[in-house]
Amino acid sequence: MKELVLVTGGTGYIGSHTVVELIESGYEVVIVDNLSNSEASVLDGIERITGTRPALEICDCTDFNQMHAVFEKYGSIRAAIHFAASKAVGESVEKPLMYYRNNLVSLINILELLKEFKSKGFVFSSSCTVYGQPEVLPVTETAAIQPAMSPYGNTKQIGEEIIRDATHAGLPYASIILRYFNPIGAHPSAEIGELPLGVPQNLVPFVTQTAAGIREQLSVFGDDYNTPDGSCIRDYIHVVDLAKAHVIAMQRLLENKSAEAVETFNLGTGNGLSVLDILKTFEKVTGKKLNYKIVGRRAGDIEQVWADPTIANDVLGWKATSTVEETLASAWKWQQKLSAK
Ligand code: NAD
Ligand code: WQD
Repeated sequence: MKELVLVTGGTGYIGSHTVVELIESGYEVVIVDNLSNSEASVLDGIERITGTRPALEICDCTDFNQMHAVFEKYGSIRAAIHFAASKAVGESVEKPLMYYRNNLVSLINILELLKEFKSKGFVFSSSCTVYGQPEVLPVTETAAIQPAMSPYGNTKQIGEEIIRDATHAGLPYASIILRYFNPIGAHPSAEIGELPLGVPQNLVPFVTQTAAGIREQLSVFGDDYNTPDGSCIRDYIHVVDLAKAHVIAMQRLLENKSAEAVETFNLGTGNGLSVLDILKTFEKVTGKKLNYKIVGRRAGDIEQVWADPTIANDVLGWKATSTVEETLASAWKWQQKLSAK
């Protein structure tokens, strides 16, 4: 019988790609999403790729009673991957209480319900934002956690602490914390991808929208950093590679293979690319000329960060395999599909 996995935030960007990989690896999936930052039509794309339409429960993870009813309805939820969260850094500065409530109450509810329903494991979406500007690059999982730069970032740090404290106090299942670097791109089929609401805050959706003529000009936030070309450096990872790591983490939990009750892994490529590298590669891969200008630095930006993914490579047996060319091509294919709608 197929094992049933709960995916909160499963109609969102990373969640939807993970649902595809879970289904293709033989899991049964139930998604919980309140559609605050996604659309139910994402299920159509998932179904076109996999031939399976996962169950969707439209409900809010902060509502314990609603979530309890979902666990009761499905009975045999074996484990959960918890993507559901608000993620806009700027908005979190404006609405910190909303962010703390949404991201932390959701987390606490899921942890309690997994315990009550005797599930076997929990996977948490964390972020490289917990490292701030690391002193040593590439950054390893043992690097110091820096004071958070935003309430959003703080919810990831506190979320990790909640998981560790609750585990220490005797949670009857293991957890895996995954620290994502910068997920970009879309499924190669262009059936699913990122759906930014309003003006995108992240680099790649802004790039693709500029290339598509939706935005007139792209701003490069600073060329006076202490990096080879002066622009900031990040570790951009294909969302499908990222999604595959979740399936491996899930298998590890369900097969009781965790070495510790809470394990933490960096999910990145191990390569740092600058903003200007991304723009040049995008132009080369797509043949589109980008209208961009260099402007001042964006407040709160980290100068450079990229992952040391050795532990994920060695322990999980997972490696990001897509090239940045393939990844940017997938982002562009998805944008063209969106623009044609
Ligand atoms: P997303 O906004 O596309 O997906 C999140 C989903 O959660 C959305 O579908 C939204 O409707 C849903 N949701 C939010 N609050 C909810 C609630 N209370 N109840 C039910 N559903 C709720 O975001 P994403 O980029 O796919 O991110 C997924 C996770 O990964 C988040 O936890 C995010 O913080 C984390 N993360 C994202 C990035 C990134 O750059 N995208 C980087 C690091 C970590
Ligand atoms: C990447 C680079 C910008 C837009 C954010 C969150 C972080 C994490 C990942 C969730 C930076 C530059 C951007 C633009 C630009 N999310 N840029 N022009 O800042 O690494 O991280 O997403 O956990 O918490 O803060 O990603 O895509 O916003 O920016 O020059 O129009 O692109 O300055 O150097 P970032 P990003």
